[in-house]
Amino acid sequence: ANEPPFDIKSLRSDIEAMISDNLDLGPSLVRLAWHEAGSYDCFKKDGAPNSASMRFKPECQYEGNNGLEVPRRALEPFKKKYPQISYADLWVLAAYVAIEYMGGPSIPFSWGRVDAKDGSVCGPDGRLPDGGKTQDHVREVFTRLGFNDQETVALIGAHTCGECHLKYSGFDGPWTHDKNGFDNSFFTQLLSEEWVVNPKIQKMQLMDRATTKLMMLPSDMSLILDPKYRKYVELYANDNDRFNKDFSAAFKKLTELGTKNLRKAPAVEC
Ligand code: HEM
Ligand code: CA
Repeated sequence: ANEPPFDIKSLRSDIEAMISDNLDLGPSLVRLAWHEAGSYDCFKKDGAPNSASMRFKPECQYEGNNGLEVPRRALEPFKKKYPQISYADLWVLAAYVAIEYMGGPSIPFSWGRVDAKDGSVCGPDGRLPDGGKTQDHVREVFTRLGFNDQETVALIGAHTCGECHLKYSGFDGPWTHDKNGFDNSFFTQLLSEEWVVNPKIQKMQLMDRATTKLMMLPSDMSLILDPKYRKYVELYANDNDRFNKDFSAAFKKLTELGTKNLRKAPAVEC
């Protein structure tokens, strides 16, 4: 009865093939699943997390979601080919496939998310974190989402992959030297490099003094300035297996916020 009504094995390999043709899609799919969930308020129980509500106005027009039309459009052909999967499940499955493809943990997938019918359920603008702000803001946002400090740090470790785009966020550049790989290098870079203000970008962002090719947001830097966060940055920098395990659990929790009666999909054979 847990068997989903779509061919999950074939869908997984289709998503994987798409990512291998266009490596930049991998991180963007992870960000799509995160922002879809990030509208949640665990106290008010609103914001329609994990419902693909971001397909609709006003949510698709929130500044924080700039650029996410790219992964949303990239997934449309799969929704046509596998009409039985909800958009909400498709977005989450695609993020899991991307993480695994990039070398991160394989996260056990559960299905049964229900799509929002229209934009009436969208959360208000301003619920996603602002990269220009620091620990008080980061803690406020992740507490509202229902995460503790350890889970927060693990989740932000996703900045091990992908990059900022001037045209989407006003920030620019990748966090690590391998933006298509997924491991604990966000944490090792954060601790090992000397971070200085990048004078070439209008918004405040940091660059590594050694190569000037890497970037950190003020919100990323706050993870080493705040002692309660820093403890976990050090833990994950020293232990990639622990990062994978904790990231996997926290990302699964994030992508199941607000859902009910999900069913475990059959385990993937490798
Ligand atoms: C990209 C901010 C947490 C995953 C970005 C970008 C910003 C940002 C400004 C650049 C967007 C662009 O210009 O394209 C933040 C802030 C966070 C946060 C302020 C929390 C304090 C997270 C979390 C995840 C995540 C929890 C996932 C678990 C990503 C990924 C990208 C990204 C994968 C790269 C996207 C791409 O390459 O297209 N984030 N983020 N972020 N974020 Fe975050
Ligand atoms: Ca949502």
